[in-house]
Amino acid sequence: MGYLNKERILVIGACGQIGVELTLALRKIYGEGNVVASDLRDEHELLKGTGPYVSLDVMNKEMLHVLVIRHNITQVYHLAAILSATGEKNPGLAWHINMQSLLHVLDVAKEESLHKVYWPSSIAVFGPGSPKQHAPQHTIIEPTTVYGISKMAGERWLEYYHKRYGVDVRSVRYPGLISYKSAPGGGTTDYAVEIFHEALEEKRYTCFLSEDTHLPMMYMPDAIRATIELMEAPAEKITVRSAYNISAMSFSPGEISEAIRKHIPDLEVDYIPDYRQEISDTWPQTVDDSQARADWGWKPQYDLQRMTADMLVNLRPGFQLSGSGAA
Ligand SMILES: NC(=O)c1ccc[n+]([C@@H]2O[C@H](COP(=O)([O-])OP(=O)(O)OC[C@H]3O[C@@H](n4cnc5c(N)ncnc54)[C@H](O)[C@@H]3O)[C@@H](O)[C@H]2O)c1
Repeated sequence: MGYLNKERILVIGACGQIGVELTLALRKIYGEGNVVASDLRDEHELLKGTGPYVSLDVMNKEMLHVLVIRHNITQVYHLAAILSATGEKNPGLAWHINMQSLLHVLDVAKEESLHKVYWPSSIAVFGPGSPKQHAPQHTIIEPTTVYGISKMAGERWLEYYHKRYGVDVRSVRYPGLISYKSAPGGGTTDYAVEIFHEALEEKRYTCFLSEDTHLPMMYMPDAIRATIELMEAPAEKITVRSAYNISAMSFSPGEISEAIRKHIPDLEVDYIPDYRQEISDTWPQTVDDSQARADWGWKPQYDLQRMTADMLVNLRPGFQLSGSGAA
């Protein structure tokens, strides 16, 4: 605990889908006052009263640098980014924000000798040339979206700063993430969150991907645990300084609809694929995470049925699960 108490953490992009839950989890471990949350946006409701909050535009390197010094920051979790679907609408902006913000964080980490930096990559680093099933840790990586290109380049920069300057960088390639606390921010897998809200409110959902589009997915509690377990692993266990594949489940819109129908039998789902179909068609259906399992003991806890039950009871307190799917 003595060691943990010395850490002062800055979370950048703390009001996003991952940031809110990660900030709350880090505050439990390191102490409320030791985790500074920051974002461009106003403080998220769920963060209010749980610890320090500052407004930060990570595109302003001076502002970032001053904040790191003023708060005696020792670790940075950099989550701010333009996501896959939004990125395709404005490729230049997505490239600029995703790359420049990472370089700002890596430079400040080098200059201030920070203990550790976390920056997430994504399954979007893979492309049409990558294996569709069990995409390996090391394989053909030729992404075709600007988001994927920025993640691929980001992974290279992480490894470069580690090798050249000794910065302790750590990263995972998150699959699509499903959560109930804060809304998703413009990704291609956002349908898997929207469908729960619409199923509970309207019993009807129009999906922007086709019924049989299988993608790697993960429930947020697993993603948060993966992040913290990776960051707490001894440095000598980390053999991948770009980003680790991690996997939990793979399903299609048709399959998640079936899983929800076990509890909401009259749910109706239509499929009207849009531009996001093309993005998802370039990604693998499953990834091989054996390196993460071997190096730092990664293991998921939630499958589709367990995640579905947990989402429904958390989104609607008092929701009665059908017996067969109860968590
Ligand atoms: N959510 C997913 O399914 C998923 C999957 C793979 C990878 N990721 C990666 O995880 C990270 C976080 O994703 P998320 O889903 O929480 O994204 P999000 O869009 O929900 O949150 C990002 C946050 O960053 C903030 N931000 C944007 N520009 C900023 C700036 N200039 N300065 C400070 N803050 C700024 C936004 O206001 C937002 O609150 C991203 O790097 C993303 O690529 C997410």
